[in-house]
Amino acid sequence: MPLSFRPLHPLFAAEVSPVDLRTVDAPETLAEIRQGMHEHAVLVFRDQQLDDASQLAFAQRLDGALHSKTGISAMTGNRFGNEALTDISNLDEAGEVLPPDDRRRQYGLANRLWHTDASFVDPPGRYSLLSARAIAPDAPPTEFADMRAAWDGLTPARQALLAPLEAHHSIAYSRQVLGFEFSAEEAEKLKGVVQPLVRTNPVTGRRALYLASHATRILGWSLPEGRLLLLDLMEHATQSRFVYSHQWRNGDLVIWDNLQTMHRARPFDDTRQKRDLRRVTTLAMPPGAASHAAGHTGHPGG
Ligand code: OGA
Ligand code: MN
Repeated sequence: MPLSFRPLHPLFAAEVSPVDLRTVDAPETLAEIRQGMHEHAVLVFRDQQLDDASQLAFAQRLDGALHSKTGISAMTGNRFGNEALTDISNLDEAGEVLPPDDRRRQYGLANRLWHTDASFVDPPGRYSLLSARAIAPDAPPTEFADMRAAWDGLTPARQALLAPLEAHHSIAYSRQVLGFEFSAEEAEKLKGVVQPLVRTNPVTGRRALYLASHATRILGWSLPEGRLLLLDLMEHATQSRFVYSHQWRNGDLVIWDNLQTMHRARPFDDTRQKRDLRRVTTLAMPPGAASHAAGHTGHPGG
């Protein structure tokens, strides 16, 4: 039976009819999900029973190559022992909440800035699949912004100015903005990459602004002018009319397209209340590359 998509917001985001993603394998069903991602940019799947292995396996069936974590966790290791699985929890190895001054907590606080995942590697992240394993009913939502609608909301003159521009992205920058400090060795590994400021979806033809808290500067512009432009565009793109707020339930798997949206976490009492989510991000391999080559787990370092 074909999947159906129930809109959750006037512009984007849809809830998908019941399906067990542990077993979804038919090419036509995977194609329907990819098509749903092109159109809706955020998909919500309720009542999933994913564990780490089935979440990783589904991400590979959906989009092939996985992003392997390149931030400081790649240097310290994470509690899963697999850098393709990103720990979005506030928990330590013993399952207890991280103390306020824990470096992992301080680093993760930058998820509260508007961003898109893995814009600081090339090829960049495409789909992020975030699985809610243990989440309190009153836990904060995750917010998503539709970057196609943000693009559509610009004047033609503004669009013409922005279309050829490029920005440099580094994960170190979004942390440094909050005052997080890196050792020289860490900074050396987090130099970042250049990305276009505007992207076109190959299936729908829609253009989208490509912004993130990781964006450090606009190429060819002075630092202050580039940063002012980035701040201005951020403010524009995150107006409430462009934002869907996802209220989590246990068992949710939310997939977003990092090339068409931004997102951010919201504050909560995270040194007391446990929140366990796990993320897998796929890479936007260039057409023709072995994008469905299961087993490729992306970049070392950098
Ligand atoms: C992420 C992320 C936000 C949240 O998983 O990439 O930014 O609400 N999560 O935890
Ligand atoms: Mn994120």
